[in-house]
Amino acid sequence: MSNRLDAIQALIASDLEAVDAVIRARLESDVVLIRQVAQYIIAGGGKRLRPAMLLMAAGASGHRGPNAHELAAVVEFIHTATLLHDDVVDESELRRGRQTANAAFGNAASVLVGDFLYSRAFQMMVTVQSMRVMEVLADATNTIAEGEVLQLLNAHNPEIGEEQYLEVIRRKTAKLFEASARLGAILGGVPGVLEEGFAAFGMHLGTAFQVIDDVLDYSGDHMETGKNLGDDLSEGKPTLPLIHVMRRGSPEQAALVRRAIEQGGRDEFPAVLEAIRETGALEFAREQARREAQAACAAIGAVADSKYRQALLDLAAFAVDRNF
Ligand code: IPE
Ligand code: IPE
Ligand code: MG
Ligand code: MG
Repeated sequence: MSNRLDAIQALIASDLEAVDAVIRARLESDVVLIRQVAQYIIAGGGKRLRPAMLLMAAGASGHRGPNAHELAAVVEFIHTATLLHDDVVDESELRRGRQTANAAFGNAASVLVGDFLYSRAFQMMVTVQSMRVMEVLADATNTIAEGEVLQLLNAHNPEIGEEQYLEVIRRKTAKLFEASARLGAILGGVPGVLEEGFAAFGMHLGTAFQVIDDVLDYSGDHMETGKNLGDDLSEGKPTLPLIHVMRRGSPEQAALVRRAIEQGGRDEFPAVLEAIRETGALEFAREQARREAQAACAAIGAVADSKYRQALLDLAAFAVDRNF
């Protein structure tokens, strides 16, 4: 499976190496704990999907070069900062196949180094000297924070429906994908209508990506995802699979899931899994993700064909059909 992602990213392999060099250089700080924690999570790997999307969108828009590498590192830093904070909030213990930073270094260190990464990302984006670029990234970062807070408000609430769920994941996850694709287009200087097409591509793909992340929280293999199953139920998150059970399951199944969301924890995980299986909730969610991915592909229908555009289409397929 990782071979499949490698194959999609092969086109931009040398760019991704350049991005990694920027990441390494920009992690510099004379505060030892910052280097330790930041290198710990970055060295854990990660799929680098947001940098890849930015580079591919730039390529499809006719742009290559150092500004794309810098901004690709910026979106990866923002992503990494959200992960550091998210794992504290979610009380998660496994990330990228190793202990989370909060488990290894504590909550305080994770939150503070997350802040370091956010602010370093802002220092970096300034070097591109484009007000428009800064606007896109400032808006995206702010929206992500709103999404995470909205999710906090929705936790343990079984009344949350599909629309409210989608609102959360568009903000907390899809917005950064949207910004990544849009920035590639901005670097390429494409006309506004095409820029909006790239942005919509990122928004739809990011939505599909998070729906599948939520599917994998019930069905993944921790050896592949590098994360523990059941974290969402444990935090009482009303994600799409659970919303489906509450809507389509028997009264008993719906009541079980409502209770599990209200209480959180892992005690009901096996019973909830059974209800998810019996109601076809994961298939339902996968179908929604497929639809989003199709919308993503349609959004760049007017972009001139190129191997970069093809790579973006492949990335959309991967976002749905993945197990890590
Ligand atoms: C994890 O993102 C957080 C979500 C938005 C679901 P990724 O699955 O892209 O994380 P890494 O970077 O590959 O570890
Ligand atoms: C994505 O949500 C979080 C961010 C966008 C920061 P999740 O909480 O589902 O992500 P994972 O599963 O911990 O990676
Ligand atoms: Mg989480
Ligand atoms: Mg998750």
